Amino acid sequence: MQLGYIGFEVGDVDAWRRLFTEVIGLMPAGENADGSVGFRMDERTQRLFLREGQAEDVCAIGLCADGTEEYAATLARLTTNNVEFEIMDATAANARGVERLVQLSGPYGVPIELATPLQAAKTPFTPRYPGEEWLIGDLGIGHILLLVPDKAVMSRFLVDCFGFRYSNTGKGPWNGVEDAEVDFLNCNARHHSLAPATVGQRLPQLVGHFMLERKTVDGVGLTYDRVREDGLHVTNELGRHTDGALSFYAQTPSGFDFEIGTEGFQVDDDWEVVELKSYSNWGHAFHPAPSPTWP
Ligand SMILES: [Fe+2]
Repeated sequence: MQLGYIGFEVGDVDAWRRLFTEVIGLMPAGENADGSVGFRMDERTQRLFLREGQAEDVCAIGLCADGTEEYAATLARLTTNNVEFEIMDATAANARGVERLVQLSGPYGVPIELATPLQAAKTPFTPRYPGEEWLIGDLGIGHILLLVPDKAVMSRFLVDCFGFRYSNTGKGPWNGVEDAEVDFLNCNARHHSLAPATVGQRLPQLVGHFMLERKTVDGVGLTYDRVREDGLHVTNELGRHTDGALSFYAQTPSGFDFEIGTEGFQVDDDWEVVELKSYSNWGHAFHPAPSPTWP
């Protein structure tokens, strides 16, 4: 399985479009039948989309099964766990750039979609900034950190219903929070695709941040330069996470952050799950945003 796509419901689509294309360097994919606008990172039709609305939050976490067998097996797991889901029609699936699609609401209303397979685009992929490639393949596009009242509830749901596994747990200081607790969950070799987190305070959004992974350090650095030139708020300067990733964080127009990184660890069957006591080896200097969000 992989985190195949992410959707956000946002108020200022134009500001987001500028962030996605000019700063992050995604390729516009045009408007979908449901009015959402898509963006490409590779040869697939769509990897991120924006929907206009008031939520200022993630509206679709696209978990893509690796084939129809895994898709059917996951539907069976949902049924076994008494999770209700809605089977979407071909038009809705097409708007996501997939063949088959179901939608469901996880704990705390986390909007999850199960899909397979991702459609191949009819036109070639032409990156906005050639040479700055994304690390995707079978790993998915990156990860989402979800801010929830009880991370254990969210993690159990993902383990039971979607077969996620623990890579690490974490309990330590982050961005002014003394004991930020995070479960780093994998659904393939990527160290984490979803990370339920509990930070001991009431938060306005489900998404803390989303991360997209570059193939190279230069890809991260060149994006960092554009973020600074564009005057975006840098929430965390460049740093090295304890999961190996070299990354920085900056604020989206919706208040939460995006993270651009590279060199994150990959896990295998011999991986040992330990509790991390800190989240960074160096760097990631924190600058609170004018309108605070975490992390
Ligand atoms: Fe992250």
